[in-house]
Amino acid sequence: MPPLVPAPSRDSAVAALRAAGCVFAEDEAELILTTARTPDELAAMVERRVAGLPLEHVLGWAEFRGLRIQVAPGVFVPRRRTEFLVDRALARAPHARVVVDLCCGSGALGAALAAALGPVELHAADIDPAAVRCARRNVAGRGGQVYTGDLFEALPAALRGRVDILAANVPYVPTEEVALLPSEARDHEPLTALDGGADGLDVLRRVAAGAPGWLAPGGVLLVETSERQAPTAVDAFTRVGLTTELTVSEEWHAHVVIGTRT
Ligand SMILES: C[S@@+](CC[C@H](N)C(=O)[O-])C[C@H]1O[C@@H](n2cnc3c(N)ncnc32)[C@H](O)[C@@H]1O
Repeated sequence: MPPLVPAPSRDSAVAALRAAGCVFAEDEAELILTTARTPDELAAMVERRVAGLPLEHVLGWAEFRGLRIQVAPGVFVPRRRTEFLVDRALARAPHARVVVDLCCGSGALGAALAAALGPVELHAADIDPAAVRCARRNVAGRGGQVYTGDLFEALPAALRGRVDILAANVPYVPTEEVALLPSEARDHEPLTALDGGADGLDVLRRVAAGAPGWLAPGGVLLVETSERQAPTAVDAFTRVGLTTELTVSEEWHAHVVIGTRT
């Protein structure tokens, strides 16, 4: 039976994406063409992208530190900028053996850390069951365990005082600024993944407060913030007794606060 919807050719896919306002229409068409397994799937993927779905939700995956991370609909799309956080974690704790990815979303950070470190004890957690299901697919092959729940409450108590790298890319958009985000984020990523409270730092402060009890001596907590939030985030880390440093990537315009348990 012929496909119900005629499959777009490369040229018509590019034209449809360009008309929908996709700036990188040719690159996106190439990715869609190489990901679609059937002509029907190709037509449906172009249609979803034209309707405004994030490219990664259309493809079902996002590239992160050279890995293909599966991203399910409704799950936060890992940003390339966050690779900087992973780079800093690896630089600070190259021999880490116990890794926790808190607020894990798709589990991109945990998967990337485990890929770089080799065999590690990997734990990840998120409050959103959709994110947890997605993260399980991304970390299962690396022996990772994924838990559902509110921050540290989700983790096994046996991890207390043993964590070498605690990576937490928490939601950090101030509530009033969520409405200003691009539609791809606002309409297709859950509010719990974006909204960090009045100044954007509510979740970060809770993570900082809990971290010293879970870090091993010398263990590091890393979070991403905006430039404007960075001084307050540094203060939150310092107040709980972590030795704190702010690192900045000009290339990615990324700000990562690192706290070490001394
Ligand atoms: C900005 S997204 C980051 C996801 C992932 N770490 C990444 O960088 O791709 C924040 C994540 O935090 C989760 N989250 C928000 N509040 C949480 C809480 N109280 N406990 C656990 N996870 C939470 C959201 O569900 C979302 O997946």
